[in-house]
This record gives sequence, structure tokens and C-alpha cells, in this order.
Amino acid sequence: MHFLSFTPILLLQLTFLSVLQGAKWTYNGQEGQQYWSKHYPYCGGSFQSPIDIESELLRFDPTLGPIEVQDYDLSPEEQLTLGNNGHSLQLSLPHKMYISGLPHRYTAAQLHFHWGSSSKPAGSEHLVESRQYAAELHVVHFNSDKYPNMSMAVDKSDGLAVLGVLIEVGEFNPAYEQFLKFISGVKYRDQRVQVPGFDIRELLPARLDEYYRYDGSLTTPPCYPSVLWTVFKNHVTISHKQFLALATSLYSSHAQDSVPLPLNGNFRKPQSADSRVVLVSFKEGKGLQGTLTVTSPLVRKRIVQKLLIGDLADLADEGLYQLLPSGTEQLHAGKTKDLKDKQSESLAKSKQQTLNASLRKKSQTSHSVGKFVLAEDTLNYVSLEQRVFQQLKQSHAENQLVQALRDAVFPELNLKSYLGCRSDLALPTIRNILRGRPTDEAFELDRSLTKAWMGQGKTSTVVKKSVTNYGGPSPVPRKPHSQGYPHPWLLPMERED
Ligand SMILES: *[C@@H]1O[C@H](CO)[C@@H](O)[C@H](O)[C@H]1NC(C)=O
Ligand SMILES: [Zn+2]
Repeated sequence: MHFLSFTPILLLQLTFLSVLQGAKWTYNGQEGQQYWSKHYPYCGGSFQSPIDIESELLRFDPTLGPIEVQDYDLSPEEQLTLGNNGHSLQLSLPHKMYISGLPHRYTAAQLHFHWGSSSKPAGSEHLVESRQYAAELHVVHFNSDKYPNMSMAVDKSDGLAVLGVLIEVGEFNPAYEQFLKFISGVKYRDQRVQVPGFDIRELLPARLDEYYRYDGSLTTPPCYPSVLWTVFKNHVTISHKQFLALATSLYSSHAQDSVPLPLNGNFRKPQSADSRVVLVSFKEGKGLQGTLTVTSPLVRKRIVQKLLIGDLADLADEGLYQLLPSGTEQLHAGKTKDLKDKQSESLAKSKQQTLNASLRKKSQTSHSVGKFVLAEDTLNYVSLEQRVFQQLKQSHAENQLVQALRDAVFPELNLKSYLGCRSDLALPTIRNILRGRPTDEAFELDRSLTKAWMGQGKTSTVVKKSVTNYGGPSPVPRKPHSQGYPHPWLLPMERED
């Protein structure tokens, strides 16, 4: 997933924003992906993409219907811009194209690719059961119900929806030839050509009813966790020759640069699952027999309601099982990569509290108790980043900003994602909610929960270790929620329409 393209790098004064947006990045080397978070803190944050779609993350969701793409069949009279932005090959899409059937209308903006190299035809971003495909197509859409354009949507938690198509080398694909035949016109960075429109639907697999769904991010800087991902289960093929055209025609350098840099291997490595689960729209298939079905959104809402205003002592006595992640043991067994992120959640506590308090205050103003108002639940990542940055008074090590942002964003994203059935409820999120409750009751529940979590973790060192980092509820007192105030995300959700 790639969004910043053809943006002229303006030489602004060395302000916060120019540092972030002017920074160059690459996939490997000195500015490679392990260093992205230096200039783009969200790249080191929560809910990142891509991920390895492993069977233990899957949950069957019977409410997931086929993806409905509208007005994808473009006429040759419509000119599309094919461009090389130095990171990918990208095709602009007209705004009449959109996806329906999601909570909002998502209007198409562009599509682009990620691929391997001629010597290594493995360059998809998403992996399925650790298998990497030759390439991957991303069709990027923005929430046009709420935002006027891509730039306004890109840093909002409900801003984008991306369709991901896994590409394998095999039979020749005539639809892909519609733009590949123009690839020699965009060899160098920032070059563009006009290409006649064609049926974009033909780039997708035949079946649009079988897919994976999860909450994730842009896979390129600035890595905002703003993407509702749909990755189709079935791959498409392109011929070996077509793959070579993609893998060997392009350069990430400008035409006038003395040393041409080949553009290939432009994929991000898989990121931590971060208590997310992956919903599947299908149940048949290898290894899917044991797949759990999602807990209904209503049950999830009730659980969070109990945490917010219910009897915590009752929850501690009997309701604990509801709060534990389903299938924790399979989910975390042998997953050391989750450990780092779990540990990191415990840092920068005081900053998180200040931030969450201000976030909550903001959201409270736009809601009234008991009224069925549409939840204004969007997180704005750029303003959040500016606020954290100012609070850290710019005198911090780079990693502190990453950490503070992660701590501010993770519980909010996790709660939202949990209510949408796309996460398990994480302990830091429960603790975040409990901070608004009377101290003794909250402490009692927290203690039981920690104990239960550790009990579950007997077969899983990862879970156990992550719990020990928490050592009970935060001693810092927080302004409690007014009693009976429902969290904005507990107001009716559109997916239940
Ligand atoms: C996007 O919309 C905003 C708000 O209407 C506007 O200020 C901005 O110029 C637009 N950006 C582009 C790239 O059209
Ligand atoms: Zn992409």
C-alpha cells in the first residue's frame, strides 16, 4: 500500500512536518524499512501492515458478503495516468469507481504494485501461511462519505480501504498487459504516460466472495494505521515475461541521475499481529475446519459496557472468560515477534494518560448519552502526532515518540477493532478502560484478570511475560468517566444496519 506519490518535495523550513514528509525512504540500505520509524513514527507503531495471514489468526465471519466493485469497467476514452513514483508502478483511477457494501462508500484513487526481482520472483507484501507470492496489487480507495479526497482521508482511522491481490507467475494475463505494454514509457522516477482505460475488474481474481479482512496500515511511510484491508484468497497469474517486465523495466532513480538504481524488491516485511485477528468470508478449504467463528458484535459490545459501567466484582467472579482472548494459546504459541510490542506497550504511561484523557474529552463533546448518534470515532493521526511531539518537547530520543504514539493509539485501535470483531481484547485496552472506574473494584478485576491471563499463559511464555510488565493497574489517578457514559464506539455500529 503506497500513497504519497508525485508529491513535490518542498523545501520548507525545518519544521516538524517537513522533517517527516521530506524524508526519503527506501526498502533496503541506509534508509531501509528498519529505519522508517526514525522519520515516520507510525511505522514503528501499532496495527501495521502487511502481515503473515496464518491459520491461527483466522476467524470465520458469516456476515462478510462478496466485495462489490462499482463502475470498474472503464472505457478506452478515459485516459489514466501510469507513473513511476520511485517506489512503485502506479495507475491513477477515476473517482467514479468505488466499493459498496462496506460501512462507508470507498472511492477509488489509484492502484500500484509490489514485486520481487528477476532472480527472486517473491515480492508480495502479504504472506499466506508464510508463503510469499511473486507480486501484489493494491487498489486504494478512500472513505468519500467522510473525506473530500485521499490526502484528508489517509491519516484517519476510518480513512482507507485497500483491495489486495496476490499475483503468481503462470499464465499470461491480458488485463495486466493493458498497462504493462506502456511500462517502457515510465522507466525513471517521476515519469508518466497516459494509457487508455480498460476493465479494472479484470485485474482482480474471478471470485470476489472469498477474502481475508483485517485492520491495518499503509505499507509505506508514513504507515498510518488507516486501512481496512481486504486480501483476496484466490491469486491471479501473469506470465513470466510479464513479471520480468515489472521486475526489470523500472528505476527508482531519476533519468538524469548518474547511477541508475533498479526498482525491485519493493515490499515491506510482515509486521506483528498486535492482538488482531483476520476475518475470513469463507469456511471451506484446507485447514479451515477448526476455524473459530467470530463472537457477535453484540456480545462484544456488552462486555465493554460491563467494563465501563457494569459490576466489576461480578466480572471478576464470573465474567473473566469473556475478557480473555479466544484461542490465546494457539494465537501466541511460539510467537516471539509479538513480545517486543507487548513489552513496549507498558512504557510512556503518563504521556498516554494525558493523551487519552484529551482524546476522550474531545469525543465526549460530540456525543450525548443514550442518543443514537453516529459515532464520531475517528482518530486523526497527524494531529495526534503533533500533540505527542509537542508534549515530548522535541528533546527526546526518536524511539520515545514512536513509543508514546503507540501507547496512545494502541488501546483505542484495539477497542475499535475488537468491537468490529477484528481483534481480541488486549490487556492494555482493558486497563485503559478500567482507569475510569472506582479504584478498588477496578483493582480487584485487574488482579483476577492478570491471574487468569497468566494461567492461560502456562503454555505460552509470550503472554506470561507480557503480563509481568504490567504489574497491576496504573497508580496514577485519572479523571473518571462520568458514570453511565458509554464509550462512543459503543453507540450503534453501522455494520449492524
Ligand atoms: C483535499 O481537500 C482539502 C479540504 O477540502 C483541501 O484543502 C485540499 O487542497 C485537497 N487536496 C487535494 C490534493 O485535492
Ligand atoms: Zn501497496
